[in-house]
Amino acid sequence: MLMYDSFHRKINYLRISVTDRCNFRCIYCMPEEGVKSIPHQQILRYEEIIDFVKVAVNFGIDKVRITGGEPLVRKGIISFIEMLSNIEGITDLSLTTNGYFLFEMAESIKKAGISRINISLDTINPEKFYSITRGGDVNVVIKGILKAKELGFNPIKINAVKSIQSDKEIEELKQFAKQYNLELRFIQLMNLKEGIFSKVEGGEGGSCELCNRLRLTADGYLMPCLFSNIKYNIREYGYEKAIQLAVQNKPACGKNNQSRHFYNIGG
Ligand code: 5AD
Ligand code: SF4
Repeated sequence: MLMYDSFHRKINYLRISVTDRCNFRCIYCMPEEGVKSIPHQQILRYEEIIDFVKVAVNFGIDKVRITGGEPLVRKGIISFIEMLSNIEGITDLSLTTNGYFLFEMAESIKKAGISRINISLDTINPEKFYSITRGGDVNVVIKGILKAKELGFNPIKINAVKSIQSDKEIEELKQFAKQYNLELRFIQLMNLKEGIFSKVEGGEGGSCELCNRLRLTADGYLMPCLFSNIKYNIREYGYEKAIQLAVQNKPACGKNNQSRHFYNIGG
């Protein structure tokens, strides 16, 4: 089955945020003191997500990305990836991560069935990275990226939020990407509340007329647009109804989002 929204856009891409937690506190993403965690009962169990995805695939979803927060901090993520990759009908399964746990987890991620990853990395300057992430060690991330490279992950995309590093750091990042054959993409700094968003250079996000996405949050809401407050609780509506409603009510173009943040939608 294929799904079209009311603006004739084919909807075939689902982004799943498995947690709102993260081991970093990036200045543009989270407040320093961290955020109040969602009560445990509200977090979808992996089994629920899997059942939901099966329904979504029957409706026409064939591309799935796992995001967060930082997805690799959620317990059991490897078996979840394995369950996802066993769902017939998903032709493109990928993961967005901050890379911190890649060194130790890349091998099991690969075995579980993912070979496409996006890594968020704004600078390779250790002091600057430390200050952007409020405490992160860039060398751990770099070790993780090299490990993924060695294991044959392909493509490895690096997402860098723009305008928070110096020209020199941009050059260093470009050099690093070139050296290891990584696809470097720059993302403009966005603001959900003010509705400031733009296209990802070299990516497909941010173009409303081409948008093929739905987003599932860790606490069970299906959201048709990053820049809109519209959301349907999948436990409340049931999986089929939530999908139908989200697709039918996907806005032509988002305006802003007053109720959510990047860390709990999954960017
Ligand atoms: N603007 C742009 N990108 C953001 N991210 C988080 N907050 C913002 C923001 N305000 C991105 C991170 C990462 C992903 C998890 O979301 O850089 O790539
Ligand atoms: Fe964590 Fe990514 Fe947000 Fe940074 S941008 S705090 S790594 S979720």
